Amino acid sequence: MKIIMDKKIVHDLEKWFTSYVMTFKYDNNELQRNIDIKREHTERVTEEIINIGKKLGLNDNELNLAEIIALFHDIGRFEQYNQYKTFSDNKSENHAELGIKILKKYNVLGILDKEIQNLILCSIRYHNRPSVPLEETEICLFYSRLIRDADKLDIWKVVTDYYHRKNGHRNVALELELPDTPGISKKVYNALMNRQFVEMKHVKNINDIKLLQAGWIYDINFEPTFYLIKERRYLEKIREVLPETTEINEIFDSIFRSLNSYFH
Ligand SMILES: [Fe+2]
Repeated sequence: MKIIMDKKIVHDLEKWFTSYVMTFKYDNNELQRNIDIKREHTERVTEEIINIGKKLGLNDNELNLAEIIALFHDIGRFEQYNQYKTFSDNKSENHAELGIKILKKYNVLGILDKEIQNLILCSIRYHNRPSVPLEETEICLFYSRLIRDADKLDIWKVVTDYYHRKNGHRNVALELELPDTPGISKKVYNALMNRQFVEMKHVKNINDIKLLQAGWIYDINFEPTFYLIKERRYLEKIREVLPETTEINEIFDSIFRSLNSYFH
């Protein structure tokens, strides 16, 4: 499939994004802060996807398409937070599906070819699934994997900055309202020792969510992403904010072995 996508369309869609996000305005600082976090996350994910895409040798049209996917991947987050005041999909609804509903409601992608529209919606739909379904088209899977890598890179930035913050203020939205209790869940440990992703339903506390995020290393698709993870020390930064226990040491031995296997 040959992708045609000029920069003018990217600019027009960026304008739509900006004015849409501007409709979410709060006097309450915490609420506004969480809207800003998602807007800034989107901006950085567009940079990450272009960065990875360029290293993979994508052409300008393909990079423009990737940028649009990044721009809209979390468009559902704003309405999700507005309606439910949480970023937990379990406690509200799937933010990817919600985003697709919003794009359709406003016919945001109407100017694009049907095939391209489907490709964008497909990548958004799969960006937050535990894994990508294999029965999809090759090209849909490619862009889904690209957005998943770019998204993870920036979520690692957001959460590691948060875990190492100096001001000590808690943001319960970033903690997905989980309790800060000791220990980790057995099912989280088992999944990670099998080098499998952690299911959200097994996450019971903040330690578990940190482990789930570290376990994303098993769901990275492209070589340039591994380099960036290593360079930015995301996994070390998560390790530093977890307790020193035998189980956690074992999990991270396995995680670092997996990461380092890409550098030999
Ligand atoms: Fe998302």
